[in-house]
Amino acid sequence: MNGIMTNQRKTNSLGISNDLHRSFVAWSLVIVLQLAAPCAAAETNLEPLKCDPALVLGSESCAKCHENEVRQWKQTPHCQTFETLHRKPEAKAITKRLGLSTVKRNDTCVKCHYTQQQKGSRVRVVDGVSCESCHGASKNWTPLHNDYGGPNVTKQMESAEHRQQRREASIAAGMNNPTNLYLIARQCLACHTTPDEQLVNVGGHQPGSPDFELVRWSQGMVRHNFLRTNGTSNATATPAELRVMYVVGVMADLEASLRATSKATKKAPFGTASAQRAAGLKRKLYEIQQLIEDPNVQQAMDAALMAPLKLNQQDVLASAAESVGKAAFAFAQSADGNDLAALDSLLPDTSKYK
Ligand code: HEC
Ligand code: HEC
Ligand code: HEC
Ligand code: HEC
Repeated sequence: MNGIMTNQRKTNSLGISNDLHRSFVAWSLVIVLQLAAPCAAAETNLEPLKCDPALVLGSESCAKCHENEVRQWKQTPHCQTFETLHRKPEAKAITKRLGLSTVKRNDTCVKCHYTQQQKGSRVRVVDGVSCESCHGASKNWTPLHNDYGGPNVTKQMESAEHRQQRREASIAAGMNNPTNLYLIARQCLACHTTPDEQLVNVGGHQPGSPDFELVRWSQGMVRHNFLRTNGTSNATATPAELRVMYVVGVMADLEASLRATSKATKKAPFGTASAQRAAGLKRKLYEIQQLIEDPNVQQAMDAALMAPLKLNQQDVLASAAESVGKAAFAFAQSADGNDLAALDSLLPDTSKYK
């Protein structure tokens, strides 16, 4: 059923020590015997969504109804990269080393730094990292996500059942709805692990954000919880929400780091950084699991154990990443943060929020 015993090496060609490995394996065996099979993930496409320019409406389309969120976003580098990146000498140096055209015009930089929109036959860059980079290109889901059940139904009148259906419908139509935080976390990490070997090794781009951690990185300047206060203030997340967010962040990061490692073909900065990152996240997940003994976390650990953090392991690592992603989705769907107080010692102090 699982391949716990497959990876026996202590080191590998990317220099990652597997010292932790044996305790990890021993622990896995104990937990696997204790816990029931994890729930299957719903039929949702778990790959990070690329924004289809034909379905992008742009941040201005959100501003009509989400003015506060837009104001908050404008204070972040996500918005500002639109005005700043192409002026930076370092950006020009990277494009030059890669033999690419200007920053705003080449697919490589646009993928992570910009949002493209198609109008007629023209595709233009309209925003930096925008609402839709995280929440998904919105043309198909905007009409669904705010429909309480007809023109005369208000938020107060909506049944819990309809609310759930509405959120599911928005997700089916391509929305990364925060009701399942994993859907957004995978977006963050598809960018913040920089899974592009050439960009890092040849271009000299930094290999992602090595100190990314979802709570710390999303609860400072990025936070925009105005909905839950009816627009009166930017609410902080509850401790229960933060605990779930922390675990989802580690799992999504592990998934993305395994995916990045799967693309490594050379012993050079990209492969080394990606494998080191994945090894660090395996350690963090182990730490989490010791505290909460969760079946979905266990499933992710088992999958990660099967993945040798080595060069040219595309298929094995990509398939392990997929299993970790499924487990993260299931965890985000079902976890109740009120039961996870044991994690509080792992959460970052609010003074460390970005
Ligand atoms: C016509 C008004 C309108 C527009 C345009 C709009 N929204 Fe919303 N949005 C709402 C309302 C109303 C809600 C609250 C739904 C609720 O009560 O749960 C909401 C909720 C949300 C949520 C929270 C998820 C949820 O299901 O509660 C997100 C995320 C969101 N909107 C993102 C966006 C983004 C991104 C855009 C632009 C691409 C956008 N919205 C455009 C009205 C709008
Ligand atoms: C896979 C996603 C990805 C791609 C592709 C990408 N970047 Fe980045 N880039 C990032 C992320 C994420 C950061 C922020 C890292 C951090 O601050 O931790 C960043 C940061 C930067 C910075 C530093 C910004 C600063 O504030 O000083 C420069 C310069 C840069 N990128 C240039 C480029 C150029 C030029 C390209 C195209 C050749 C490119 N990037 C392609 C994800 C990407
Ligand atoms: C489409 C790619 C993309 C996505 C998705 C994305 N980011 Fe970023 N992020 C970037 C880039 C690029 C930068 C750097 C911009 C610059 O400085 O020019 C950045 C910068 C940041 C910064 C500022 C870092 C610093 O040291 O100043 C924070 C914080 C951050 N991102 C958090 C997040 C979080 C949390 C998520 C998910 C909820 C997320 N990002 C999703 C691409 C992305
Ligand atoms: C960097 C990724 C990122 C970007 C960019 C982003 N969001 Fe969000 N958004 C999130 C995350 C993550 C959450 C869940 C927040 C949480 O639990 O702290 C969220 C939650 C929300 C919510 C629900 C907040 C609540 O009170 O419950 C709304 C509404 C929303 N986003 C709208 C927008 C709009 C509009 C934009 C553009 C102006 C935007 N978002 C840009 C990541 C992002």
